[in-house]
Amino acid sequence: MRADALRPPPALDWGAARAYDPAHMATFRILLTPGDGIGPEVLEESLKVLSRIEKRFGHEFQYEEELIGGASIDRHGVALRGEVIDKAKASAAVLFGAVGGPKWDDPKAAVRPEDAILGMRKQLGLFANLRPVKIHPALLDESTLKPEVLSGVDLIVIRELTGGLYFGRPQKRWETARGRQGVDTLRYSEKEVERVCHVAFQLARQRKKRVTSVDKANVLRTGQLWREIATEVGKQYPDVTLEHILVDACAMYLVRRPASFDVIVTENMFGDILTDEAAMLAGSMGMMPSASLGKRRKDGTGIGLYEPIHGSAPDITGQKKANPLAMILSAAMMLRLSLGLEAEAAAVEAAVDSVIKEGYRTPDIGGASSHVVDTVKMGSLVAERV
Ligand code: IPM
Ligand code: MG
Repeated sequence: MRADALRPPPALDWGAARAYDPAHMATFRILLTPGDGIGPEVLEESLKVLSRIEKRFGHEFQYEEELIGGASIDRHGVALRGEVIDKAKASAAVLFGAVGGPKWDDPKAAVRPEDAILGMRKQLGLFANLRPVKIHPALLDESTLKPEVLSGVDLIVIRELTGGLYFGRPQKRWETARGRQGVDTLRYSEKEVERVCHVAFQLARQRKKRVTSVDKANVLRTGQLWREIATEVGKQYPDVTLEHILVDACAMYLVRRPASFDVIVTENMFGDILTDEAAMLAGSMGMMPSASLGKRRKDGTGIGLYEPIHGSAPDITGQKKANPLAMILSAAMMLRLSLGLEAEAAAVEAAVDSVIKEGYRTPDIGGASSHVVDTVKMGSLVAERV
């Protein structure tokens, strides 16, 4: 199809526009869904930091809290209730901890904790998942990669979040005379690819103006579709350079020359895999925030869901070993992207920076540091510096 037949870019200027006039809208409703495992522990620390922001900048955050994931299965029999979605829709943002754990791990169970996060993404229409990877110079030695490979890494992966293999139908398992079978469906529509590509190009405009679109166009029909549409959308952003690479090559380049990337845009499953790999550049999953965004509402606001990418980490739950920085940095993304509070977001990020610079570490990034602190102490240190 012709590029000029594409719809105009949707109003998705996340990060540039201010969603609220701070003089008039200083009260924000935020839904808290701590979930399972270390989710509640790290969420608690982000609230400490947000409470400092309220005081320093004169805002008021109104919280509601809901069970999700395994905790909700235990209480309500399902991982995500309709009421929780309704409350999310009535909020400016959702702060999401983590879901899952060995207690609910039976792959054949009718309900699974993961239904909560997948349901939130789908039902709230959060199609663009932003996963930034920036390496703090003081943490260069914590990564398994050589410091010279890592130096200068500052990339962001935009993962398509509501399509592809995660949601395509049919998706089922069954038994036949010749054994068990299963199917998942990788399907994308033009509109789904187009809107997430717009997010990537718009973000690139605020950064180094480079987009890498990742697909498997040499094998998959959806990959060819993806490449074609990414190219068409790219024509609307002549100031941004677009390159296409295959997902297997991308996995390789991420460890070989990670500093060469700016904005990476890719489909759901590839994004899931590549972002775990990319998290390792920063030394620990405990450092990686994320934002999941949908369309803006007519009034310019837009709901976003903010979560650390590390998951529930059942092996360290309750031991105060979890690194709360990913959750705290996710809260900073919320301030910037859903609440339009740029200075406040920057204040949180600066506080995290100085805590790291001062040498404080949780065990996951501890290395040989003599300043290893627990989850609660780390949260307090950041809060004090806001
Ligand atoms: C992620 C996670 C989730 C996903 C799981 C918990 C369902 O791995 O956010 O990357 O696969 O999307
Ligand atoms: Mg994942």
